[in-house]
Amino acid sequence: MLFELTDVSYSRSAVTVLDGLTARIPRGASCLFGPSGSGKSTTLRLLDRLIDADRGRVLYEGSDVRERDVLALRREVVLVPQLPALAQGTVADNVAYGPRMAGHSFDPRTPLELAGLDPALSDRPAGRLSVGERQRVMLARALALQPRVLLLDEPTSALDAATTAAVEKTLEGLRARTAISVVLVTHSEAQARRLADWVVRIDGGRATGEGPIGEVLGERAGDGETREDG
Ligand SMILES: Nc1ncnc2c1ncn2[C@@H]1O[C@H](COP(=O)(O)OP(=O)(O)OP(=O)(O)O)[C@@H](O)[C@H]1O
Ligand SMILES: [Mg+2]
Repeated sequence: MLFELTDVSYSRSAVTVLDGLTARIPRGASCLFGPSGSGKSTTLRLLDRLIDADRGRVLYEGSDVRERDVLALRREVVLVPQLPALAQGTVADNVAYGPRMAGHSFDPRTPLELAGLDPALSDRPAGRLSVGERQRVMLARALALQPRVLLLDEPTSALDAATTAAVEKTLEGLRARTAISVVLVTHSEAQARRLADWVVRIDGGRATGEGPIGEVLGERAGDGETREDG
């Protein structure tokens, strides 16, 4: 297993966010699926130690994430947050930032192209991009780190149908062209079906199902509910 979470609890400000969550995430394309407020982003953030559990264990490739060097972990396991946040400067500056911090120079064209962006955008100030373009620059910035695992938090939540389709196509391309594992957070059952082979269903801070997507969500249409009572 890529990740194994065992009896994980996390509370903040008297709110129980995760309540004994146990889940397994294999290599490949997986998703965390559930209604708004159910604990998906919180679960994702545990995986690269943006937060640590109050109780329970999180294993990455068999060892506790807390026993690893946090910066080394975050170079392998790269999280793209729910809301695009780019630094000032050009697209190329943003994409080169991580590699430069790590002390090597590199060509930003490859990650831009992998992220489905025209390399001609390189010199455009990041502030002058559409939200969909920003989302893909965030993806390019993560890819520039040559991650083993990408954690994507609702990468299409701010996008219209056409741009969502373009970003999904990019993710499908990554799946076909690279060995990078992806853990995708989504509240869309249709998107989960399009992009993932494995699903962990999260509801009320607990995992309420996990397994191959067809087994957990049913072979087709599914029950389609997106209740907001998480
Ligand atoms: N630091 C915190 N302090 C207080 N409450 C928190 C904190 N972090 C998360 N929560 C609460 O825990 C619940 C789960 O949050 P989380 O962001 O993980 O949900 P989510 O499933 O990603 O939702 P969405 O689909 O809306 O992004 C929410 O009700 C949220 O308000
Ligand atoms: Mg979220």
